[in-house]
Amino acid sequence: MSASTLVHLLLLLLAAAAATSFTPTASASTDAIDRNSSLTGNQTLVSAGGVYELGFFSPAGADDGRTYLGIWYASIPGPTTVVWVANRQDPVLSSPGALQLSADGRLVILDGSNATVWSSAAPTTGNITARAAARLQDSGNLVLSADGSGSDEQSVAWQSFDYPTDTLLPGMKLGVDIRAGITRNITSWRSPSDPSPGDVTFKLVIGGLPQFFLLRGDERIYTSGPWNGDILTGVPYLRAQAFTFEVVYSADETYYSYFIRDPSLLSRLVVDGAATQLKRFSLNNGAWSSFWYYPTDQCDFYAKCGPFGYCDTARSPPCSCLPGFVPRSPDQWRQRDWSGGCVRATNLSCDGTGDGFWVVNRMKLPQATDATVYAGMTLDQCRQACLGNCSCGAYAAANNSGGVGVGCVFWTVDLLDMRQYPIVVQDVYIRLAQSDIDALNAAAADNHQRPQKSKLIIIVVATISGVLLVAAVGCCFWMMKKTKAQRKRQSDDTASSVPPSTADFQLPYRVRSQPSLSPVRGQQPDEVSGELRYAGEKDVDLPLFDLDVILAATDSFAEHKKIGAGGFGPVYMGVLEDGQQVAVKRLSQGSAQGAREFMNEVKLIAKLQHRNLVRLLGCCIDNDERMLVYEYMHNQSLDTFIFDEAKGRLLRWQKRFEIILGIARGLQYLHEDSRFRIIHRDLKASNVLLDRNMVPKISDFGIARMFGGDQTTAYTRKVIGTYGYMSPEYAMDGLISIKSDVFSFGVLVLEIVTGRRNRGSYQPELDVNLLGYAWMLWREGRGIELLDDALGGGFHHSRALRCVQVALLCVEAQPRNRPLMSSVVTMLSSDNAVLPEPNEPGVNPGMTTSSDTESSRTRSATANYVTVTRLEARSTGHSSL
Ligand SMILES: *[C@@H]1O[C@H](CO)[C@@H](O)[C@H](O)[C@H]1NC(C)=O
Ligand SMILES: *[C@@H]1O[C@H](CO)[C@@H](O)[C@H](O)[C@H]1NC(C)=O
Ligand SMILES: *[C@@H]1O[C@H](CO)[C@@H](O)[C@H](O)[C@H]1NC(C)=O
Ligand SMILES: *[C@@H]1O[C@H](CO)[C@@H](O)[C@H](O)[C@H]1NC(C)=O
Ligand SMILES: *[C@@H]1O[C@H](CO)[C@@H](O)[C@H](O)[C@H]1NC(C)=O
Ligand SMILES: *[C@@H]1O[C@H](CO)[C@@H](O)[C@H](O)[C@H]1NC(C)=O
Ligand SMILES: *[C@@H]1O[C@H](CO)[C@@H](O)[C@H](O)[C@H]1NC(C)=O
Repeated sequence: MSASTLVHLLLLLLAAAAATSFTPTASASTDAIDRNSSLTGNQTLVSAGGVYELGFFSPAGADDGRTYLGIWYASIPGPTTVVWVANRQDPVLSSPGALQLSADGRLVILDGSNATVWSSAAPTTGNITARAAARLQDSGNLVLSADGSGSDEQSVAWQSFDYPTDTLLPGMKLGVDIRAGITRNITSWRSPSDPSPGDVTFKLVIGGLPQFFLLRGDERIYTSGPWNGDILTGVPYLRAQAFTFEVVYSADETYYSYFIRDPSLLSRLVVDGAATQLKRFSLNNGAWSSFWYYPTDQCDFYAKCGPFGYCDTARSPPCSCLPGFVPRSPDQWRQRDWSGGCVRATNLSCDGTGDGFWVVNRMKLPQATDATVYAGMTLDQCRQACLGNCSCGAYAAANNSGGVGVGCVFWTVDLLDMRQYPIVVQDVYIRLAQSDIDALNAAAADNHQRPQKSKLIIIVVATISGVLLVAAVGCCFWMMKKTKAQRKRQSDDTASSVPPSTADFQLPYRVRSQPSLSPVRGQQPDEVSGELRYAGEKDVDLPLFDLDVILAATDSFAEHKKIGAGGFGPVYMGVLEDGQQVAVKRLSQGSAQGAREFMNEVKLIAKLQHRNLVRLLGCCIDNDERMLVYEYMHNQSLDTFIFDEAKGRLLRWQKRFEIILGIARGLQYLHEDSRFRIIHRDLKASNVLLDRNMVPKISDFGIARMFGGDQTTAYTRKVIGTYGYMSPEYAMDGLISIKSDVFSFGVLVLEIVTGRRNRGSYQPELDVNLLGYAWMLWREGRGIELLDDALGGGFHHSRALRCVQVALLCVEAQPRNRPLMSSVVTMLSSDNAVLPEPNEPGVNPGMTTSSDTESSRTRSATANYVTVTRLEARSTGHSSL
């Protein structure tokens, strides 16, 4: 009797013992199968350290009996997290399935009638012996070794790591192995119940400089940016304490891979098909959380700003043309459609002398898969090479691995997918006509002599205004009939009878009985609806200012009167004749969208009166000019305090709490108490103004939406707002509801409490933004560490923690789990209310199919708020199963 037969017998005995003792997992005490054994039904292999388990499984929700051979975590109780599937396209339809090792060294899956449904690729080494075995390693790799040794790399005949499904585990490679002829990419499951390949893939594209793309079908969604020898230029923060990342770029193979320093930490990188995202999940305290995901912000979307445009989240709007370039279609560009990109202001001369270069810094390199790379060149040679090729439009260093840029990459194609970061990434040298370079140099020099420049502007503006003055002075469109005298009187009246800012809640529209003007149910709302619907109303008592009054108040829009820039134009501080200070928002001229926003804002705000909403005093329309006149806010916007180290100290805890409560009340009024249901859509620190007494007032209703009585949700095709504050379902699907405002409110509260911006407070060591960071600390019971140092001491930490908890409830992924603002106000103002435990913040925009029905049930759901939250509590952490 040979040794192997003995082993086989022993195994059989063990299996029999296991079966009779009713502990089927005991049969899983092996980590390998060989030529003489097989794995059937619910038998499993468990890796030696008990990390991973391999066996047949039926995906959640697959009730047709399909089973697949997969690998999952052995140590995690609860829903199975499958990290690899062998036969993702070939399910076993008649159970039980069986895994065997065939004589020619292939793993084969047989179904209940012994038909082969799947087999692995032919072994890469020809010397399959009788001792060949497939062993599940603690890395999650199923390794078939020709001689059963398992450890010797020479003997690897096949391994599951070469055939990733939707998950990249530590140590797996994503990329191209040219020697072995293997391409390793990860592709989403078709659905949570179907592991067959879906349409979202993350893969390496080689050529020029290598870079990774997230694709949906053929459409590019996101790219990591080219590898520059040091970093992936689109992932400048790819550093974290717990991980090491590796990109290997050589003639033989190119790949991305990562490792975890602490082997007890479980982490996986997954392509999420529903969200169209690449996500990193880590297991913390028994639950999966994904702090890290791409695309993260609007600038991450592939070629967001078109050819020769670049994106910067710190700017509004985020897209700009590269220096020396102008929008291809200025109209589209103004309407925030940047896809057309930019074109040169001046054509290149192309004779080798008439052109030069302008350097732009901190850049994600343009897509370089079609770029030309010369590894050996110096930057100077690169410049010459670029000048010598008429089609070359830009160059950069190709290899930054030594800390200095060497090598040469130049582009003879459109520059796509550039973005600017706040930190150093890489310089790109843009080729421009010499005349443009001279102009840019002159402009740069001009910047040092600002006063001169602003004088020029005043003259220009004054001249334009003078011309406009001659034109008929018309004001708010629906009041054209009113006489000049009436207008004048009203204007004077209101100017002098503005209620003090401490005037308490005024809800005039509750007592007025008006015929309902709510939108026709079932009608698909769009950007325009909700707008003219109210135009017929006669109850808008809005003062109309003459243009000359405004010009006098603002010194003809003098530069020194400028106090800021809203979404659609600059804001000026002004003093009316009677001494009242006002803020004048002057809409950008000729912007079609601005006009629409203007009408929207006037009609909305005129109807809203609340202590925590900024008060509209009047408006003015004059030809192309449109202006809104607001009460002046002495302390400007909230962001100037909380994000400023010095001014932040002026806002102690009690003040911050009052501000939070004030904003909550203002928002509650908008959502629930005013006659209309109003979604602000752009709540953020810079849109909260502070009056003389630091009472917060919500402002900027330029993109607000009005809903009729029963309407709770709408979809929009045009997602506008501010990243960092946008809820996932709005950012990804354009789904608008009051819960999207609640999300923004939650972000804002965290910012107020921590004194840090959500956007731009990315923690490189931890790989999290503010929401993720807050969540992490909260879950570890370290919520107190979030509080801004500027808060000082001497206050009740429990109340501050209550604010954090409420904020985390507000930023939950599922809109239905977020509280209504009325609940928020209650939770904040009562020290005894029992609050639900928050779930992971919203980074998972995939589950919108049910949102419509959910949101329309918002009110009833909130009555059972605590229950709903608890029921959902466990499901949010798991993505694919
Ligand atoms: C495994 O299958 C056997 C028989 O098919 C069944 O009795 C047993 O409960 C199963 N075990 C598990 C853990 O599903
Ligand atoms: C499948 O093959 C095994 C062994 O080769 C045999 O014992 C079994 O009866 C076969 N089952 C069917 C359904 O043919
Ligand atoms: C396979 O066998 C051949 C000859 O038997 C030997 O030269 C070769 O080194 C073996 N390869 C491996 C990977 O063991
Ligand atoms: C992913 O890689 C496999 C081969 O490993 C290939 O068949 C498939 O086409 C690739 N998918 C994409 C989208 O490139
Ligand atoms: C610039 O070049 C484009 C095409 O190369 C041409 O159509 C255009 O007329 C040129 N513009 C000027 C001002 O020469
Ligand atoms: C310019 O560079 C491109 C890309 O390397 C190349 O295809 C083309 O032939 C070059 N043109 C000239 C005139 O050298
Ligand atoms: C980048 O430069 C380093 C030396 O600084 C060199 O070792 C490496 O091979 C270069 N990489 C490529 C892809 O040329």
